[in-house]
Amino acid sequence: MRENPMMPKPHKVIKIDLETDLESTFRIEVDTPPALGQFYMVSIPRIGEMPISISGIGPGWVDMTIRNVGKVSRAVHSLNEKSILFLRGPYGNGFPMDEFKGRHLVIAAGGSGIAPVRPLLEHYYRNPDEVDKLDLLFGFKTPDDILFRQDIDRWKSRFDTILTVDDACGIWEGECVGLITEYVKNIKLSEYDKMEIVIVGPPVMIKFTAAEFIRQGVSEERIVVSMERRMSCGLGKCGHCKISEYYICLDGPVFRYNEAVKLVD
Ligand SMILES: Cc1cc2nc3c(=O)[nH]c(=O)nc-3n(C[C@H](O)[C@H](O)[C@H](O)COP(=O)(O)OP(=O)(O)OC[C@H]3O[C@@H](n4cnc5c(N)ncnc54)[C@H](O)[C@@H]3O)c2cc1C
Ligand code: FES
Repeated sequence: MRENPMMPKPHKVIKIDLETDLESTFRIEVDTPPALGQFYMVSIPRIGEMPISISGIGPGWVDMTIRNVGKVSRAVHSLNEKSILFLRGPYGNGFPMDEFKGRHLVIAAGGSGIAPVRPLLEHYYRNPDEVDKLDLLFGFKTPDDILFRQDIDRWKSRFDTILTVDDACGIWEGECVGLITEYVKNIKLSEYDKMEIVIVGPPVMIKFTAAEFIRQGVSEERIVVSMERRMSCGLGKCGHCKISEYYICLDGPVFRYNEAVKLVD
């Protein structure tokens, strides 16, 4: 009998790491590794389902960093290590890794937008020669909101990294304070046809960060963004995420910015 692709399957939670007051990272057992930038539909029976990006990939597991914001995420946050979580997927297109090869790559992440790019950063940490240069630009609201501090410290040792907080709250010992957009000009860009820019974060952060790179001369075609949209089926059937001719779940969530700008509700 053919398998129903809408039927979630049980997966074991191996480990839970508390990241901030709102976010925890759940390590979940999986059989096959997803592509970088894909997402799963995560569900709890009788509660509901939500799309969640992959924030880490390893042998037999994936990490998902989940913000406790509503019905399903609250239920997931009440799970323990060894609990069972239900997954469908992985879905979506993922990052165009082949197109990044040999380029000067800049990865700009705002807030929890760092989660979907974390596997990308781990990939380049292990394979730094795959790109010509990698610059990192991270922005968080306050020092308490910084995700993956230890990873950021490790990435800093290999890549030029700017870490900024909007509000230092009197406790921030880092060098940069202010919106991520203010620091785009601090990155020394290469010739524009050698650049690839990845921007992930809240829609307003994507919009203004992309505008800064464009102001510096980078074209929309050289900017890649990952878009979050309310979803239902996750596999191009229900039309819930459809904007003009694009299904965000199927054609995305990763888009070139010249396409993404057309996908505004
Ligand atoms: C491709 C993709 C990847 C994602 N990756 C992640 C990830 O890695 N980590 C993560 O934490 N989240 C991620 N999200 C967001 C996540 O899917 C949502 O936050 C999720 O729906 C929360 O579900 P919930 O039931 O817990 O919250 P809900 O109860 O659905 O509420 C979530 C938020 O939306 C608001 N809301 C509720 N209903 C509506 C409505 N009808 N219209 C507008 N707003 C509403 C609520 O007030 C609340 O702020 C991703 C989304 C997409 C599309
Ligand atoms: S979520 Fe159903 S078509 Fe995209």
